[in-house]
Amino acid sequence: MNKTVKIRDKEFAIYIPSGRIEERIKEIGRQINEDLDGESPIFISVLNGAFLFTADLIKQITIPCEVTFIRMSSYEGITSTGNMNQVLGLKESIEGRVVVVVEDIVDTGNTVVSILSELKKHRPAEIKIASLLLKPKALKHNIQVDYLGFEVPNNFLLGYGLDYNGFGRNLNDIYTLVS
Ligand code: IMP
Ligand code: MG
Repeated sequence: MNKTVKIRDKEFAIYIPSGRIEERIKEIGRQINEDLDGESPIFISVLNGAFLFTADLIKQITIPCEVTFIRMSSYEGITSTGNMNQVLGLKESIEGRVVVVVEDIVDTGNTVVSILSELKKHRPAEIKIASLLLKPKALKHNIQVDYLGFEVPNNFLLGYGLDYNGFGRNLNDIYTLVS
């Protein structure tokens, strides 16, 4: 149970085993099926981190649904606010639709806030947020995660989609940084 892995130069210890992740995703899936019964939502997964969570979550969904993938690009804006974020890859029309944004982790909340403001321009009927993880102590915005896997402390996490410099996304369990 105290399994550790070395990814690049760092050591990580197991924090949430895959069995617990699976169980929690089943519960979230059931909750979404109940809440959105009669709707046909479009799940919008935020690449890269949310790919595994999305794949496992979508398998639990029994109501009619679509799934698509976006990516956030940040570039140096010419505005006084500095960085601007842009949603890339959304080809489907979401006007009048129920949207479920699927994220791996909400940390400061900056990413989710940018996504919400971008998506709202396309006038969806409703936007729900599903995130596997949330770091409440890092959160800088007043946002509500409608479907949450786990609240986690302010430590660096890895695995099950989450990366350290691009590595470690393939791990089945979620790990925390040791050293
Ligand atoms: P934000 O601060 O809420 O905008 O978080 C943005 C992104 O930072 C997340 O979608 C993750 O890709 C990444 N991130 C935040 N915390 C961690 C972590 O502990 N491990 C790996 N990636 C993280
Ligand atoms: Mg992410």
